[in-house]
Formats: sequence, structure tokens, C-alpha cells
Amino acid sequence: MSAAPAAGSIDHMKSRRSWLIPTGLIALTVIPSLGGAARLSDLASNGPVTAGNARFHAMPLPVVLHIVAALLYCFAGAFQFAPRFRRRHPRWHRTAGWVLVPAGLTVAVTGAWMTLTYAFPPPDGLAVKVERLIVAPAMFAAIVLAIVAVRGRNIAAHRAWMIRAYALGQGAGTQALTQLPWILLVGPTGTISRAILMGAAWVINVIVAEWIIRRYPMGTGAVRKRRPAPALTGVA
Ligand code: HEM
Repeated sequence: MSAAPAAGSIDHMKSRRSWLIPTGLIALTVIPSLGGAARLSDLASNGPVTAGNARFHAMPLPVVLHIVAALLYCFAGAFQFAPRFRRRHPRWHRTAGWVLVPAGLTVAVTGAWMTLTYAFPPPDGLAVKVERLIVAPAMFAAIVLAIVAVRGRNIAAHRAWMIRAYALGQGAGTQALTQLPWILLVGPTGTISRAILMGAAWVINVIVAEWIIRRYPMGTGAVRKRRPAPALTGVA
């Protein structure tokens, strides 16, 4: 017969589970971050211009802004989703929010800017272009709606719109997961497979976001509620 866990140990377990969310989100950001770091270093060192990177060298501003804002948005944004950390540090949540909002808007604007101005080499085709031109304004709109909601003190709507915006932004991380198995098992993506795998990543993220918004409404701490621990009487 095992004794019920002490209150302190339940607290510790809850705290560890709460950190699973930002840890998972940061893990999702690792592959695009490495790609972003490589691109920034290629541009900073004025590396060799090839058919694959000519567009970035010809007009580096949007991609540099995009990568810096995206890394800030994905990494710092992940901590906004740690329920216990957010409750314990409400000032951090607000201050970080005022940095993350412009970062997120910059990601969306530069994403659309590059889509409209860069000459994309294959396998990027029209379908990926259309997907990006849907996702970028949707991400922008979700952030604006989140700000409108919080100014109207509608915290549940603020949370829902921020989760949607972050999910759309994190499409970059999920895209690495949808494309990598294909590349390893089948080979390089073609125009159609790339569009499907890129689009699938955004669809997956939107579905997960909507599931989280409904499954864990405001006040559940985004961690499944546990039954209250029995009193420490030694009786199971
Ligand atoms: C917040 C998460 C995001 C991250 C971490 C991210 C990361 C990156 C990185 C690292 C690049 C440079 C790719 C390279 O060097 O080849 C890039 C390019 C790009 N991103 Fe994002 N991105 C994010 C969100 C978005 C969103 C929401 C859109 C718009 C729908 C978008 C559209 C683009 C476009 C159009 C390019 C140029 C691609 C190319 O020229 O091949 N990104 N992104």
C-alpha cells in the first residue's frame, strides 16, 4: 500500500508538466532556427551567390527581419504558454507580450512581403505561394484580434487568438517534421508534394490549436486536472 504523494511533490510534478509545453514548442523551433542561423551567417559573410540563395542576397532586408523576428517570436513566445510560469509572473507575460506582438506581426508581414517579391526556385510553386498568402494575413489578423480582445478584458478570446497566431507561425517547425520523413524515405520534394506537406503542417497546427482551445478552456491551467489527492491519513 503506497502512501499518497505529499502536497510538495504534487506541486513539483505539476510544475514539471507545465514546463513540457514550452519545452515542446522550443524543440519544434530548433530546425527552422538552425536554418535561420545558417542563412544569417551566409548573408553576413557575403557567401557565394547560387540559384538557391540569389533572392536573399539581392534583397536581404525582409529575410533578415523575418528570421530575427521569427526566432524571438517562437522562443520567447513559448514561455507565454507555460501556465504556472505565466500565473506566477504576470508582469513578465505582459512585458514579453509587448515585444512578441511586433515580432509576430513582423513575421507575418515579411512572410507576405517575400512571397510577393522573391522569385522562388522550384520546388516552390503557385500552391505554396497561395498557402503563404493565406497564412500570413491570418496570422496578422489573429494577433490583432488577440490585442483587441485583451483591451476589452476578454481574456479567453485573447488566449484563443494568441494560440491560433502562434500555431500558424509555428507552421515552420511542423513543416520540418512533415517534409523530413518524405525527404528521407522518398527523396527531394516536387512542386505538388511540397505544397501538400507545407499545407499539411499548417492544417495540423490549426487543428491542434483548436483542440487545445476547446479541451483546455480558461482556468484549467492547460494541464489536465488531477483528482484532489487524498488526505494524508495512510488510508488508500
Ligand atoms: C514564426 C515562425 C517562422 C519561422 C521560425 C520561420 C523561419 C524562416 C526561415 C529560417 C527562413 C529562411 C529560409 C532560408 O534561408 O532558406 C524563412 C523564409 C521564409 N518564410 Fe518563414 N518562418 C516563420 C513563419 C513564417 C510565416 C508565418 C510565413 C508566411 C506564411 C513565412 C514565410 C516565409 C517565406 C515566404 C520565406 C522565404 C522562403 C524562400 O525564399 O525560400 N514564414 N522563414
